Amino acid sequence: MQTLDQADRQYALHPFTHLSNHQAQGPFLIERGEGVYVWDDKGNRLLEGMSGLWCASLGFSEQRLVDAATRQFAALPYAHMFSHHSTQPAIELSQRLVNMAPEGIGKCFFVNSGSEAVDTAVKMVWYYNNALGRPQKKTIIARRNAYHGVTVAAGSLTGLPYAQDGFDLPAIPVIHVDTPHAYRYAENGESEQAYSTRLAEALEQQILEAGADTIAAFIAEPVMGAGGVLVPPAGYFEKIQAVLARHDILFIADEVICGFGRTGNAWGSETYGIKPDMMTSAKQLSSAYLPIGAVLVSDAIYDAMQSHADKLGVFGTGNTYGGHPVAAAVALETLRIYEDDDIFGQVRQRSPHFLERVNALQNHPLVGNARGVGLIGAIELVADKDSRSPFPAADKIAVQVMLAARQHGLILRAAPGDTVAFCPPLIINDEQIDEMFDAVTDALNDVHQQHKPA
Ligand SMILES: Cc1ncc(COP(=O)(O)O)c(C=O)c1O
Repeated sequence: MQTLDQADRQYALHPFTHLSNHQAQGPFLIERGEGVYVWDDKGNRLLEGMSGLWCASLGFSEQRLVDAATRQFAALPYAHMFSHHSTQPAIELSQRLVNMAPEGIGKCFFVNSGSEAVDTAVKMVWYYNNALGRPQKKTIIARRNAYHGVTVAAGSLTGLPYAQDGFDLPAIPVIHVDTPHAYRYAENGESEQAYSTRLAEALEQQILEAGADTIAAFIAEPVMGAGGVLVPPAGYFEKIQAVLARHDILFIADEVICGFGRTGNAWGSETYGIKPDMMTSAKQLSSAYLPIGAVLVSDAIYDAMQSHADKLGVFGTGNTYGGHPVAAAVALETLRIYEDDDIFGQVRQRSPHFLERVNALQNHPLVGNARGVGLIGAIELVADKDSRSPFPAADKIAVQVMLAARQHGLILRAAPGDTVAFCPPLIINDEQIDEMFDAVTDALNDVHQQHKPA
């Protein structure tokens, strides 16, 4: 009989994994979870400092979600939303989502993942501009270091070489503009506001060069997550939105990580004063217990799409599992728990302590920059604090810290730019925050010890 480890190496093709290394080292097996903790196959308890992939907001044993799924499985395990079909959980979920969305958002379209949400948003933007009779207005502006997913359109918008190389991406018209990252790219003595002004001016310049009549939308994560937890500099979104408004360019807020309390409000857009025309969401929508995503659309976009669909005969897009009743029931229950337990209020309450512990890491010899908002944060590791020079790429210093943290009972994630990310379940308490950052400190000390000159 093959062990699980052997079967994994033989049969499983892992996403975002070094394939040869995987053949050598095999899988990291997680067997069960409770609260903010998971257990590996050796019986080790680990604090899940990344909520899986920025998603398991209610931790790993929320009985209300298990019960909601069980009830719905028993009542109706599948139905679709094509050709006027619907179900009670899908209807109630769309109502709740639209009601909690920013002003102007009036419709909700279900998909199964963040990537599908982004791909669908792009299609809707194109459809909208076709409806308005401006077929040349199709290019999407994204930012370098952005992560918007992996499907063909979403993967084209993602601004990370490791997610595009070898895949012939980008494959849709896209322009990547500068990453807002003050620690790396603000000039000496430049204030955050001045830096934001410079970024907005550069954006406008690129729009003018391409021709505003060719640019359909700008897509942005309120806080860039997988690209290294980049918190926007002061004034950034205000200035960017002013430029977009001048050129009739839509704003797609990619809320796949920030949505549902991560930054201390329902949406990252709320935290940063963004007035989106469209929003993409997934992950914490169902606390990741089942795959579901949603595209939220403004009334103005919907109205144009409706009249275009009338002309064409049908709104011709959708997925077999979009609005799956069990996923919708679990998402609905997730949103009820957020409200009943005031989870977003809890995030605001815990955030100062969380951020105090994140920012304290700035004093560690390996840490050049510490940053965060709500219950998301990161440290950027540098070889020399004064010059901010990075470690040699081959050192994979952030991966070293991630692996050292695991030895201290903590799951973290290495991100581009020698960054280590923190994104614990929103139900984490103060003692667990301390446990988490004590383990981060131990991991940093271990790695620093190995890097000290002899
Ligand atoms: C901001 C953002 N958009 C889209 C995606 C893609 O989501 P999925 O992995 O569910 O396709 C992610 C995933 O991390 C994300 O962080």
